[in-house]
Amino acid sequence: MGWQQTFVMVKPDGVQRGLVGEVISRFERRGLRLVALRMVVMERDLARRHYGAHQDKAFFPDLLEYITSAPVVAMVWEGPGAIGLARAMLGPTDASQAPGGTLRGDYCMDIGFNLVHASDGSEAASREIALFFQPEELCSYRRDLEKWVMPRT
Ligand code: RTP
Ligand code: MG
Repeated sequence: MGWQQTFVMVKPDGVQRGLVGEVISRFERRGLRLVALRMVVMERDLARRHYGAHQDKAFFPDLLEYITSAPVVAMVWEGPGAIGLARAMLGPTDASQAPGGTLRGDYCMDIGFNLVHASDGSEAASREIALFFQPEELCSYRRDLEKWVMPRT
C-alpha cells in the first residue's frame, strides 16, 4: 500500500463533547503519523469550499450551519494506505448504522452529528489539506517506533 496523507477533522460536536483527545489517541494508537494540526472556527467560505461536492444537496445549508457553528480541529495524518484506514476508523456517514469499534459507532448516533471527517480519496485529500494548511506547515519526521508499526516503509 502506497504512502498517503489524509485530512482528518474533529467536527464541532466532537470538540464540544471533549472527544478531541479520543480521536487523536485512536489515530496515534493505530500507528499513523500526525504531521499537522490546527484548531479553527471555519468561515462560511471555507466550509462551502470544503464541502463543495454537496452544494446541491438538500442537507447543504444545515451542513454549513453545523460545521461553522464552533471550533473544529483540523489534522493531517500519514502512513501506508492512510486514506482508507482513516475512513474505516470513522465508520459509515450515518452514525446510526456505524458498527462498534468505529469512532462514529462508539461515540455518536446521528448522520448530522457524526463527530469526525476524513478525506474520501486521494484527490479530496490533496484538496482538503491545501484548504487548511500551507505546505510548510506539514512536518516531515520519522519516529523510532515505526519499525514496529510499518516495517516496510
Ligand atoms: P465527511 O465528508 O464529513 O467525512 O462525511 P462522509 O464523507 O462520511 O459523508 P458525506 O457524504 O461526504 O457527507 C458530508 C457530511 O454531510 C452531512 N450529511 N447529512 N442529512 C443527511 O442526509 C446528510 N448526509 C450527509 C454529514 O455531516 C456528513 O458527514
Ligand atoms: Mg465526505
